[in-house]
Amino acid sequence: MRLSERTLGQADSPITAAYDLLELRGPGGGDLLDLAQAAPLYPPAPQVTEHVLRVARDPGGGRYTDVPGLPQLRGAFAAELSRDYEGVVGPGNVVVTAGCNQAFSLVASALAGPGDEIVVALPFYFNHDMWLRLNGVRPVYLEPGPDLMPLAADAEPLITPRTRAILLVTPGNPTGATLGPDSIAAFAALAGRHGIALILDETYRSFRDTGAPAHRLFGEPDWDRTVVSLHSFSKELAIPGYRVGAVVASPALNREVCKLLDCVAICAPRIGQEAAWAGLTRARQWRHERAAEIAGHRARFAEVMAARPGGYELLSLGGYFAWLRHPFPGRSTMEVVRDLVVRQDTLVMPGSAFLPDDRGTLRVSVSNLGHGMIERFADRLSR
Ligand SMILES: Cc1ncc(COP(=O)(O)O)c(C=O)c1O
Repeated sequence: MRLSERTLGQADSPITAAYDLLELRGPGGGDLLDLAQAAPLYPPAPQVTEHVLRVARDPGGGRYTDVPGLPQLRGAFAAELSRDYEGVVGPGNVVVTAGCNQAFSLVASALAGPGDEIVVALPFYFNHDMWLRLNGVRPVYLEPGPDLMPLAADAEPLITPRTRAILLVTPGNPTGATLGPDSIAAFAALAGRHGIALILDETYRSFRDTGAPAHRLFGEPDWDRTVVSLHSFSKELAIPGYRVGAVVASPALNREVCKLLDCVAICAPRIGQEAAWAGLTRARQWRHERAAEIAGHRARFAEVMAARPGGYELLSLGGYFAWLRHPFPGRSTMEVVRDLVVRQDTLVMPGSAFLPDDRGTLRVSVSNLGHGMIERFADRLSR
């Protein structure tokens, strides 16, 4: 058979490629520090597990849900967003998806087709870039400003008649860089002026250093003319394998998203939706405690990295991630990552997976650094 040129032309998932490096360690490999894929180390909240068990025993627990998701979950999430962002989000603004990756894919496909453009802030989350390319949509890269923060003023000259959206991830993956409400508002105003969408991937919204609203856009009367906010319950509720996330957008865009969702999944997994509902309504305290633990890892990481172990420099830190510059300017980052695996049993993501070129950077999933591991990581860098 002949395969599509478009998928053939796209590289394999960078996460798979990173884990393939572990084969280089051979059978006697030492104690691995896995800081590549970011995933919670702890199990879901007991309230979530108990609810899932009840649903699994229910004769209706395996049925499809409505395409946009369980009404009680859409309602609970809309209420939570309205409270946390001090704005107005209704259940009709929410479509539940099988994770935030699916949320992005469906939204991008509902907004843009082959030949269209989406302005993508660098460094990007690689699945965003991959999805756009797989669909013939041209990612137009927005270089970061100071402190790795993108600026609306730099995005304006990139907008053309083919532009359909500006895409931001905040807190960022891979840098952790977290935009303030004013800066997000400037992007929304820019998108509004040009009649295009502002897509905000807010996967890590609960892992910020403040409990204040991440932005004020949901408080604007017609926010849904411009804003599309994407969410994940994977990290927040420690249920990445349950596959639940959400699109928060206008009913008109959501209608288009549901056409696509119906074709690719019919609905997000019911069991995952039930888990998310239990997490939102019964495990708020648990969520705060877990987010506080990860904030503690970030603070300790910043302290330890201030000494620049091995010459590695901390460029940015936030949410789940740290972004480092390695001290080997003449070498390819992939080679440095390979050496860290083979010689130091330490797996991180090469920054080149998140950029169109190699800028000598690495992504570290600080979320994965449990007790005592930060010091061990620094020791290994020093060696
Ligand atoms: C920025 C960003 N968006 C989306 C996702 C995917 O999340 P989900 O597990 O909900 O599909 C991730 C996961 O790493 C992410 O970092």
